[in-house]
Amino acid sequence: MTQPTIESILQEKRLFHPPAEFSQAAQIRSLEEYQNLYDQAKANPEQFWAELAEQELHWFQKWDTVLDWQPPFAQWFVGGKLNISYNCLDRHLTTWRKNKAALIWEGEPGDSRTLTYAQLHREVCQFANALKQLGVKTGDRVAIYMPMIPEAAIAMLACARIGAAHTVVFGGFSAEALKDRLVDAEVKVVVTADGGWRKDVVVPLKAQVDKALANGGAPNVRHVLVVRRTAQEVEMEQDRDRWWHELQQEVSVDCPAEPMDSEAMLFILYTSGTTGKPKGVVHTTGGYNLFTHITTKWIFDLKDTDVYWCTADVGWITGHSYIVYGPLSNGATTVMYEGAPRPSNPGCFWDVIEKYGVNVFYTAPTAIRAFIKMGEEIPKARNLSSLRLLGTVGEPINPEAWMWYHRVIGGERCPIVDTWWQTETGGIMISALPGAIPTKPGSATLPFPGIMAQVVDLEGSPVAANAGGYLSIQHPWPGMMRTVYGDPERFRKSYWEHIPPRDGRYVYFAGDGARCDQDGYFWVMGRIDDVINVAGHRLGTMEIESALVSHPAVAEAAVVGKPDEVKGQEVVAFVTLEGTHSASEDLKKELKQHVGQEIGAIARPGEIRFADALPKTRSGKIMRRLLRTLASGEAVSGDTSTLEDLGVLETLRKEG
Ligand code: WT7
Repeated sequence: MTQPTIESILQEKRLFHPPAEFSQAAQIRSLEEYQNLYDQAKANPEQFWAELAEQELHWFQKWDTVLDWQPPFAQWFVGGKLNISYNCLDRHLTTWRKNKAALIWEGEPGDSRTLTYAQLHREVCQFANALKQLGVKTGDRVAIYMPMIPEAAIAMLACARIGAAHTVVFGGFSAEALKDRLVDAEVKVVVTADGGWRKDVVVPLKAQVDKALANGGAPNVRHVLVVRRTAQEVEMEQDRDRWWHELQQEVSVDCPAEPMDSEAMLFILYTSGTTGKPKGVVHTTGGYNLFTHITTKWIFDLKDTDVYWCTADVGWITGHSYIVYGPLSNGATTVMYEGAPRPSNPGCFWDVIEKYGVNVFYTAPTAIRAFIKMGEEIPKARNLSSLRLLGTVGEPINPEAWMWYHRVIGGERCPIVDTWWQTETGGIMISALPGAIPTKPGSATLPFPGIMAQVVDLEGSPVAANAGGYLSIQHPWPGMMRTVYGDPERFRKSYWEHIPPRDGRYVYFAGDGARCDQDGYFWVMGRIDDVINVAGHRLGTMEIESALVSHPAVAEAAVVGKPDEVKGQEVVAFVTLEGTHSASEDLKKELKQHVGQEIGAIARPGEIRFADALPKTRSGKIMRRLLRTLASGEAVSGDTSTLEDLGVLETLRKEG
């Protein structure tokens, strides 16, 4: 349902102009102004980014070289020194913003807390000193496995402050998934909490960390710093584990930000790819700081009086760039919410908007579709008149959901920015600038100034207007990932070789299918690789398959996505069993749970189908296209003559 079709795109004629009052007060006020910026940036990207870097950020030392491009490896603002935590905190303290709310936190169940810039700065300094006391040095890696509480952001900024790279692991990931990341990133200290609230239950985060570390699971980890949140009993291992509130009493509030090289690693964030285990996407300091800063400023059109709320979790890139770094670098008030919409509290998002007078709201299509199902009476019973701008991210938004968002949440007055980007891009690449670019429901519209996006074929040639192709980026940009942690070859292979470089010209391959219409508007169709998108979460089918075959009953597994009305896609697993095991409802349950344990609840298959064999081509490749068709319940058509065993099809179909 969410994967747009060519027909739906070609038929979409609705165009929404920015309201005049919005444009007049906007950062970028007209299509013309956008065009000028875009053209300037295209003509001289380095000058464009350098001017912004100079204007928008504080540097301890200016760079010598704007861009050093040794394809596919880029370095931005080489020789420059800065600290993103300084740009997010210290520089606001000498202005009126010192006592402005930096972070408004709405917790579960009913907790809340507001930190001004001065208070946030103080806590970050203490946290940074605590990390130092635990032996963390510049260049070390620190994992953050936390609920959505202020300390998650504080820990990130504290790492940045002392030049340690963080790797935030989403609190919904299992102990097993956590361990893989701790090992891959060679993590020295883990920051966690006793527990966190997720949909009315307490998640035992510290216990998961203990499990990940058991039996020398992650040998580099020396200490675990535990924040008290839910106050349940946890085991503390002497010498290894420390309570944050205890350490906080011992450390000073003074911790100057370390001047970091522009290219110093800021963080690693793991994301799923087509093959193998998740990749550690590496982002560095200067380019990322600039790119998240300026995209936040122009796309969310932030005013100093705005309350801004992005509903993502800090465990994902959206939380990194658009809850923490982008908004704080701009001196904005950013809302952080621990809860999630659920049957017991279907109006929770609208309550938060009403309570804090949120002006700019950024969420995902899957959430919007869930709200549509709950009925418009729920948001209509709240006062949402503070809203002036809406955003969406994570997957293509179907026009019906866009129109509902526009009408019911935006009261037909708020522009919608549909923002296309990825963990790898660091920040938003294609989006409307809300005061300048008219929107079309379902299109992310136009590339950000300085982003040379193009739909191409596999030779790298641009395709005609409205023709399908691959989304590519033709020139490096400051927020781009620098490498896969510990595996530069994988970086090259995953992103720079699908489209073969021509004449030494490398282009970035995003892994998304897209079209560009006659007006230059981009319509992103979705992943073209074996990555599926479940409720805005990116999952590698291979990872789920590996999780399944690690269960003793499973011989072979193939995982595909099936369209789902709310989540966009749902995981469907086709499984063959080892000789002695037989298919049963209990085994289905057990396998779902097993995937939950190996990866996390987000990866649990919605459906498991047992089969005698999987359909394969004569060369032994699993026919995924066929499985996708079967999973979605459609009739299998087209050529199946390469099927190794046509009888297989019958059993697979019956199982469903
Ligand atoms: C993939 C990246 C960075 C945002 C959170 C997801 C899909 C993201 C859109 C959009 C169509 C979108 C793409 C992309 N995607 N935003 N506005 N329209 N598709 O980050 O986990 O790295 O996933 O999400 O398929 O490749 P991610």
